[in-house]
Amino acid sequence: MVDYGSVHRLCLLLVCCFSSISMTTSATPKKAMTVPFSNNYIPTWSSDHIKYFNGGNEIQLNLDNFTGTGFHSKESYLFGYFHMHIKLVAGDSAGTVTAFYLSSNGNEHDEVDFEFLGNRTGEPYILQTNVFTGGVGNREQRIYLWFDPTANYHTYSVLWNSYLITFFVDDIPIRIFKNTENLGVKFASEQPMKLYSSLWNADDWATRGGLEKTDWSKAPFVASYKGFYIDACDATLDDEYCETEGKKWWNQKEYRDLDAAQYRRLMWVHRKFTIYNYCTDKARFPKKPIECKVNKDA
Ligand SMILES: *[C@@H]1O[C@H](CO)[C@@H](O)[C@H](O)[C@H]1NC(C)=O
Ligand SMILES: *[C@@H]1O[C@H](CO)[C@@H](O)[C@H](O)[C@H]1NC(C)=O
Repeated sequence: MVDYGSVHRLCLLLVCCFSSISMTTSATPKKAMTVPFSNNYIPTWSSDHIKYFNGGNEIQLNLDNFTGTGFHSKESYLFGYFHMHIKLVAGDSAGTVTAFYLSSNGNEHDEVDFEFLGNRTGEPYILQTNVFTGGVGNREQRIYLWFDPTANYHTYSVLWNSYLITFFVDDIPIRIFKNTENLGVKFASEQPMKLYSSLWNADDWATRGGLEKTDWSKAPFVASYKGFYIDACDATLDDEYCETEGKKWWNQKEYRDLDAAQYRRLMWVHRKFTIYNYCTDKARFPKKPIECKVNKDA
């Protein structure tokens, strides 16, 4: 919950040099501070399969042949910057899925998904993303990651304002979903969302379409998390304020579209790492979905 004004006041006060937060034209989301898991999140199920380290600043989700586990944010948010540092299941992770997503409740829900599909040792992980608006999804994209996501923590994040939703991997935009309500496509504009994450067994579909099964002799499967700070508008506190063009940093002009450098990086990801893109799947969508053109996705 910082705005430029308070950041600059803080800088003056501390006589510090937050050069990385200073006002530049490039609109890379801000770095977050460290807070314990329990400040913002609670377990969703099987809380005994979550382990805590460093005073709760770092956690591990465990999946074994009995159960997986998951957690979610205590509050619901309407717009903001949502991020998580995740180190994915190492070694033989085939059949497992680790997910990090935003979702609202109800039938016509909105959802913004990262899903990491495990694989055999040494084989690449695949990142699947999807966007649901007003209950309609079917907007899958799949990419290879350009690094080994099991070796170190990497940052997976979403910047959501009333203009667009941007997915980032380590601050590199990998996908955008613009508000095209004026063209008749629903956008996530009104429903507050919670953050969710989970690790579970999905060997009926996750790896090579379900051909590769989970090897339970390798259990427990472990995914590690840190970075539990949430920089977003808490809709339980000020729902109406969240919907207006407030002074929150993610509403400012430089966050309403990508800049040229960010578009170049987005195109680099599309060109080099795309495995599947619903925008170019003519069998499923003989008529190209409207948002694909606007998003320069195809
Ligand atoms: C689960 O794993 C444990 C430890 O490897 C094993 O003893 C047990 O038989 C397994 N249970 C099932 C239902 O596969
Ligand atoms: C797993 O690795 C194989 C072999 O490299 C690859 O074909 C496959 O796409 C990878 N990912 C998934 C999710 O199946």
